[in-house]
Amino acid sequence: MLNIVMFGAPGSGKGTQSDMLIETYQLFHISTGDVLRDNIKRGTELGKTAKDYIDKGQLIPDELMTGILASVVDENADKARNGVIFDGFPRTIAQAEALDKMLAERGTAISAVIGLDVPEEVLVARLLNRGKEQGRSDDNLETINDRLKVYHNSTAPLKQYYEEQGVLHMIKGTDTPADVFNRIKAELDPLV
Ligand code: AP5
Ligand code: MG
Repeated sequence: MLNIVMFGAPGSGKGTQSDMLIETYQLFHISTGDVLRDNIKRGTELGKTAKDYIDKGQLIPDELMTGILASVVDENADKARNGVIFDGFPRTIAQAEALDKMLAERGTAISAVIGLDVPEEVLVARLLNRGKEQGRSDDNLETINDRLKVYHNSTAPLKQYYEEQGVLHMIKGTDTPADVFNRIKAELDPLV
């Protein structure tokens, strides 16, 4: 199994690259942000809880998020036979520890963490542009700044966590999506 964690700031290209990677490696894509936005759209209890956090650029509490992730993994076990791309999870050390434990209980582990490195001014420009084009509720300047703060405080420490595990592959996340994809592929091909 090829289990990949996409790691990077808001707007770094996690979703864009995941869409390309699932085609090439036949993986199952789990974006926790997409799962939450789908729940908001359907008006579920989870969606009602998640909306306040998302619109403020804050993280959904770890325990809630970890439970959701485990159920998505288990509900899709047949589609995830070749492996999973975790996009937007983990975002805290507690989530990373929970993911390691969850995968170990299922007899597997993380194969690689792909870290996308993109300068902050590029991130902001990409997100403002998407806000104009697609109207995602958290793609406005105030919430973008809050998301970036949360990323630096809570998520960036994962870099060291995964470096110590020897699974981190940092990738330059600028230039075209195809350029970035080729860099990721060069890291992953030796693993398959
Ligand atoms: P989430 O949906 O994960 O949002 P995010 O991390 O802020 O990241 P984005 O989806 O905005 O960016 P991305 O890295 O996927 O980039 P993309 O490919 O779209 O989370 C949203 C919220 O949900 C969180 O704030 C939190 O509240 C909650 N949440 C989610 N997971 C959680 C968790 N685990 N725990 C707790 N809370 C959680 O690209 C961005 C834009 O740039 C696009 O328009 C794209 O077309 C463009 N682009 C991409 N690549 C390039 C390129 N190479 N060149 C030019 N443009 C590019
Ligand atoms: Mg995304």
